[in-house]
Amino acid sequence: MTRKPNLAVVGATGAVGTVMLGILSAREDVWGEIRLIASPRSAGRRLTVRGEEVEVVALSEEAFDGIDIAMFDVPDEVSAQWAPIAAAKGVVAVDNSGAFRMDEDVPLVVPEVNAAAARLRPRGIIANPNCTTLTMMCGLAALHSEYGLRELVVASYQAASGAGQSGVDALRDQIEQVAGTGVGEQTGDLRAVIADNGPFPTPLVLNAIPWAGSLGEGGWSSEELKVRNESRKILGLPDLKVSATCVRIPVITTHALAVHAVFEREVSQEHAQEILRDAPGVVLYDDPAAGEFPTPNDVVGTDPTWVGRVRRSLDDPSALDLFLCGDNLRKGAALNTAQIAELVAAEFTA
Ligand SMILES: NC(=O)c1ccc[n+]([C@@H]2O[C@H](COP(=O)([O-])OP(=O)(O)OC[C@H]3O[C@@H](n4cnc5c(N)ncnc54)[C@H](OP(=O)(O)O)[C@@H]3O)[C@@H](O)[C@H]2O)c1
Repeated sequence: MTRKPNLAVVGATGAVGTVMLGILSAREDVWGEIRLIASPRSAGRRLTVRGEEVEVVALSEEAFDGIDIAMFDVPDEVSAQWAPIAAAKGVVAVDNSGAFRMDEDVPLVVPEVNAAAARLRPRGIIANPNCTTLTMMCGLAALHSEYGLRELVVASYQAASGAGQSGVDALRDQIEQVAGTGVGEQTGDLRAVIADNGPFPTPLVLNAIPWAGSLGEGGWSSEELKVRNESRKILGLPDLKVSATCVRIPVITTHALAVHAVFEREVSQEHAQEILRDAPGVVLYDDPAAGEFPTPNDVVGTDPTWVGRVRRSLDDPSALDLFLCGDNLRKGAALNTAQIAELVAAEFTA
């Protein structure tokens, strides 16, 4: 087969979908038709992709007619129902939700790390990892192949847009409500002023919330369990020890992670920096003396994962501490999905 495959973007109106349209417009155009799909609420809206206006259609079985590859940027339950329907019609589904990531018949793919896994897809579905996991995967995979990863201790500083468009809207509203008021200095202040927490359990503005997702076993949040389980699956390390604490902070977009990584072999700061400098999908930005370390504000809107503050542990010569930032809507979601879809598209022209 040598033709350009037809692509559907399911969830084209959401936080990830919106970024996806920009990414599809900017990357090499490997697509025939691009069809935009969302809920019936959005049917008839016109969105721009590749410089052209395209009308959004409502999700239905017929919406997949003639489509070869479909990206799903929709809530878990929508993917759980509709990705198998699309796959049954012969469409390759690339799913950004959490519905299939741990299914052993669904590969979990980061193209820079395990691209070959995308070819083995018995259910016709390929999963895109969670944005927090994705923020560290390119850098850690490169270090793992040199030193052998044994253990990760992770603290995340996650942006509001990780909770979707409603997270962004809630944070912007909350910023307006506190601006110029002087609140935030007394216990309970924010709760008194902020009427709507949006998707967060307590006001996010001027705050830090040690919670993302739902309550899992043993008090771990679902986001923390995703970091553990998905890292193990992507790296092919089922016994990797992972402890994560996921924290939401009042940043619009770009997740940051502080990582303590323990390896099989002794590490050196300079060698680790060299590895990261050469790693695909990674930018090393690590010169604290010159004030150079990644922050969400520097990284938002860019494609790679940025790594800085690379240090060898003072207490363990086999351990490194690093700080990583990645745009959760780009590499953490839309970009990685687009890269996976392009791997599949290449099969059509091979
Ligand atoms: N935000 C992130 O950083 C991030 C990162 C990685 C993965 N993800 C995952 O990506 C997915 C999308 O996240 P998001 O942040 O873009 O969410 P979002 O902003 O809430 O957007 C949700 C999208 O799904 C559509 N949708 C909702 N219910 C639907 C239904 N019943 N039928 C058809 N379409 C429906 C919405 O269409 P309407 O506009 O018509 O309602 C909208 O396009 C989620 O699974 C999320 O976990 C998000």
